Amino acid sequence: MGSAVYADQTRAINARAVEFDFATVPMHYIPGEAMATHIINVMHLVLPEGERAMAQALAEALPLIDDERLREEVRGFIGQESMHASSHEKAREQLERLGLDVGPMVENVSWLVDRILGDHGLTGRAKREWLCERLALFAGMEHYTAVIGEWLLTNDTLEAKGMHPAMLDLIRWHGAEEVEHRSVVYDAYMHVDGGYARKARQALIASAGLLVLFVVSGGYLFHKDPSQHKGRFWPLQLAGASLRGVVPSFTTFITEIPRYLRPGFHPSQLGPMDHALRYLAQSPAARAASA
Ligand SMILES: [Fe+2]
Ligand SMILES: [Fe+2]
Repeated sequence: MGSAVYADQTRAINARAVEFDFATVPMHYIPGEAMATHIINVMHLVLPEGERAMAQALAEALPLIDDERLREEVRGFIGQESMHASSHEKAREQLERLGLDVGPMVENVSWLVDRILGDHGLTGRAKREWLCERLALFAGMEHYTAVIGEWLLTNDTLEAKGMHPAMLDLIRWHGAEEVEHRSVVYDAYMHVDGGYARKARQALIASAGLLVLFVVSGGYLFHKDPSQHKGRFWPLQLAGASLRGVVPSFTTFITEIPRYLRPGFHPSQLGPMDHALRYLAQSPAARAASA
C-alpha cells in the first residue's frame, strides 16, 4: 500500500494554535434556532470524547506504520484532534455557565466511549484485530466529518441567521481541519489492514452510530435547556432546521455510503480543499493565537 495511495495529497498536517473568546456567547447562539443550536452543541459535548479515543487509537497504530510520511501525518492528526477536543470543551464551559447542565451527560459519554472504544487491555493478535476494527470505524467517521466540514465552510445560512461569530469560527475552523486531514485515518487503515469487508462493515456502523448520536444527544440537550423560549417538540424543529439548511441534511448519513464504499474510493476524491485552506488562513481564532 503505502505512498501510492496518498501520493496526490501533498500537505503536511500540523496542529494550529487557536484562541477563542466565548464570553459573550448566549444559550441560543443561532438566534431563534434552539434545536439547531443543540445539534451544534453535540459537537462540544460528545465529539471531544470521540476525538480523544481516535487520537489514542492512532497513537497505538504508529508503531505499525513504517512509512515515514504517513507517520508524520498521523502525528499531525493526533495534534489537531486533541486541539479540537480542548477548544470544544471551552465552548462547553460557557454553556454550563449559562445554566445548561451537561455534567452527567459528559460523564456518561466519557464512560461509554472508554468502554466501547478503549483498548480493552488486549494483547497479541486480538489487540491488533481490535485496533484494525477501530481504525476502520474512525476512517468511516472521518468521511462524515470531512463532508460536514465542507458543508460548514460553504453554507451561508448560519451566518445569515446571525450565529455568534466565535461559535461560527469554532465550527468552521474545526470543519476546515477535518477537510484538511480527511485522508489520514483512511490511509492509516489501508496501510495497517486495508480489508474491504471490515471497512464496509465499520462504515455502516459509523453512519448509523453518528446519526443516532446526533439525534439522541440533540434531543437530550433540548430537554435540558432551561430557557423558556426554546419552543416545542424538538423532532419537528430538527426536521425544519434540516430542510432550511440550518443543520446538514440527515440524509447525508445514507447518501454518502455508496460513494465511500465504491471500490477505488479515496478521500482525496472528495474535491478541492480550497475552502478549507482559505478559511484556515483567515480564521479569527488562528489569527488571535498568532498575534
Ligand atoms: Fe476533529
Ligand atoms: Fe478529524
